[in-house]
Amino acid sequence: MKKEYTLDDVMNTVGQTGLLAASARMEGGIAHAQEIYDELKRLGVEFGSGMPLMEARYKNTNRVLAGETNITQVLELGSGMSPRGLNMCLENPDMTYVELDTPALIGLKTQILEKITNGNVPPKLHLVGGNVSNSIDFNTATKEFSPDQSVAVISEGLVSYLSIPQKSELFQYIHELLKKHNGFWLCSHSSEKLDPQRIERVCNDIGIDLRENAFASHGIRDQFIDAHGFSKETFGYDGVLDELNTFPQHEQQKLSKVALDEKLGDARIAKFKATGSSLQEQLGDT
Ligand SMILES: C[S@@+](CC[C@H](N)C(=O)[O-])C[C@H]1O[C@@H](n2cnc3c(N)ncnc32)[C@H](O)[C@@H]1O
Repeated sequence: MKKEYTLDDVMNTVGQTGLLAASARMEGGIAHAQEIYDELKRLGVEFGSGMPLMEARYKNTNRVLAGETNITQVLELGSGMSPRGLNMCLENPDMTYVELDTPALIGLKTQILEKITNGNVPPKLHLVGGNVSNSIDFNTATKEFSPDQSVAVISEGLVSYLSIPQKSELFQYIHELLKKHNGFWLCSHSSEKLDPQRIERVCNDIGIDLRENAFASHGIRDQFIDAHGFSKETFGYDGVLDELNTFPQHEQQKLSKVALDEKLGDARIAKFKATGSSLQEQLGDT
């Protein structure tokens, strides 16, 4: 019999952060964000709403992706309750969109998408439950892709939850995928600034210490990216400032540039390409 997932399966795991992001984004005027949130609320989610960073990050990722041509294959890692996959598949029936998140989160999301689409989840939207830094799960997620077409990888707010060895595993899998498909990876580019109160809350709620996962400096982060064979281009958030429902322009104008950056800095997007040799190639382990 098919398992029925509940909020309890997701709460107090890293999946809880996906519910929080969905709550924060629901006032952003994003297609299906409100419907997903309404379902979560019906199940008992009680997070507050309106975090402009989540709205800005989502819209900035879409903006950068829209600047690319002919993308018909997407892998979204740590997709949480994001409606992007649903929306992109509804807009383009040729789109193959694969989401990989933890099994309980994906189980719950599958039920919610079935409900809000009246059982008409697009056939080329694949929801895969697994661990992004596990090679078997990663390969399961990517087996849907045609070898002769490009793949865009997307991750928003995922990497900070992974330990340094897990990040390294994931970077190697993505490198291999991008080499094979001549693709790119859009990754929200965290400032790695850690709010002490948030750390305490996350540690207590989900048992992950963000301090241990963080790079010691931006320089070390950039060396890590370089060592894994990626080149990087960064996209600021200025292009979405006039689209933010939860943080309108008259509110933005009250802030200094520094304060605005404190609030929205993590909505920057890094675009990685696999231009160098992979870590295994560099270590001679091929
Ligand atoms: C902060 S949430 C962001 C969710 C979504 N990207 C969004 O912006 O709404 C982080 C997501 O990463 C997922 N995640 C964290 N570690 C993971 C792992 N090792 N494997 C798969 N998913 C993971 C969580 O379950 C959660 O849904």
